[in-house]
Amino acid sequence: TRVAILISGGGSNMIRLVRDMTGDHPARPVLVASNDPQAGGLARAAALGVPTAAVDHRDFPRDRAGFEAALLQPLLAADPDIICLAGFMRILTPAFVQRFAGRMLNIHPSLLPKYPGLATHARAIAAGDAQAGCTVHLVTPELDAGPVLGQARVPVLPGDDADALAARVLVQEHRLYPAVLRRFAAGDHTPVML
Ligand code: GRF
Repeated sequence: TRVAILISGGGSNMIRLVRDMTGDHPARPVLVASNDPQAGGLARAAALGVPTAAVDHRDFPRDRAGFEAALLQPLLAADPDIICLAGFMRILTPAFVQRFAGRMLNIHPSLLPKYPGLATHARAIAAGDAQAGCTVHLVTPELDAGPVLGQARVPVLPGDDADALAARVLVQEHRLYPAVLRRFAAGDHTPVML
């Protein structure tokens, strides 16, 4: 099973996914691509021997379709079976998403359906939630709304600010995403609940 991973920044989730795809894991990483040529994750992926590509979305101002057409080139050349969005910070058009319907995953730093979109940790704290966490879901045209493939929960602690909670959730992201990809790549869509 061929896995392509899309990133926008440091790629800490991508690193965990790549490192997990060894031995008897049914999947292998075939591409790491970014919308930012300066993304730190690109050098980290290359250091792990994974082919990389970058398409700068700033080269396509107000032209989301043009950016996606450019991104599709290295993506389709890699011929992935599964695409993992991992810290990928661009919204994809329905047309792009539909091309990979049922085989594009995303990790979102909240317990969906709570807090789709941005600033998830600040919102959980402001709401006085006792728990927060992260969700891996299938990507559908509606932002952060597809079927849940896994969730991990953490406590919100007194005195938490968004950074403290983000750090606590990120540790769980790094556990959850590899576990979900292993199960999904084996054809099992049973949600992973950590
Ligand atoms: C993190 O905030 C994480 O919660 C979200 O994307 C951001 C960067 O992740 N998934 P990564 O380190 O680039 O994987």
